[in-house]
Amino acid sequence: MYKQNIISKHIGILCAMPEEIGSTLDKLKNIETKAYGDLNIYSGEWSSSKTFSKSLNIYISIAWSGWGKVSAARAATRLIGHRVNELQIDAIFFTGVAGAIHSKLKQWDIVIANELIQHDMDARPLFKRYEIPALSTVRIKSEKLISNWALFTLKKSKRDGSLEMFGNLHEGLIATGDKFVHEKKEVEKLSKNIEDLIAVEMEGASVAQVAKQEKIPFQIIRVISDEANESSAQDFNEFLIKYNNHSAKLISTLIENIKDAPI
Ligand code: ADE
Repeated sequence: MYKQNIISKHIGILCAMPEEIGSTLDKLKNIETKAYGDLNIYSGEWSSSKTFSKSLNIYISIAWSGWGKVSAARAATRLIGHRVNELQIDAIFFTGVAGAIHSKLKQWDIVIANELIQHDMDARPLFKRYEIPALSTVRIKSEKLISNWALFTLKKSKRDGSLEMFGNLHEGLIATGDKFVHEKKEVEKLSKNIEDLIAVEMEGASVAQVAKQEKIPFQIIRVISDEANESSAQDFNEFLIKYNNHSAKLISTLIENIKDAPI
């Protein structure tokens, strides 16, 4: 008798704040919570609306790390060490909000990072400016196949009308640092020093570094909340309240299409 092979995938989702997860946990069955100190990782089975769920079991582990590079690196490391049914995560997706650096980016636009830089890393004169000694590189590159899949998936969903709140899709360089950027002169400085930079946030490149060192596929995906200028604090706070109702849609679009992802 024909017996269908069931494939299992275990996907890690990381955000900095609970608003960036929104109602995603409602999509999980049989949720179990594991606490690592003050970090909770919630794991469960994705309850898919699609028929592929018969041949593909998707386990999700999800956490919010808190702000900044140290918290993000710590949470990424915990997520990578976490097991569900003895399965390690196959990939890690970090989603959340970012400040626009390039003027073409507007609130609700989505940014797929194809490269990441730690803009506060500076060990000159021993290393080049921004060089991450552990990786001997200035820019951490995303895997092209994964970035292309994320871009294609989100573009298609946007075209089909299921991401209607979201704006345009962009692919480009994101910079990470332990600094909330809130001055035009800081934006100008960053874009002068890092010429193709399009967005700034506080966690992505540290998660990318951990994922690279641990050899786990990753993708950082950000939604523009503010323009990193003098009104960024207010814009950010107001945006976050709205984003809480839409962040799960972004995450579920990715997970619902995970069978096509090169992971
Ligand atoms: N995340 C969202 N907006 C940001 C900003 N302006 N600076 C740093 N991280 C951010």
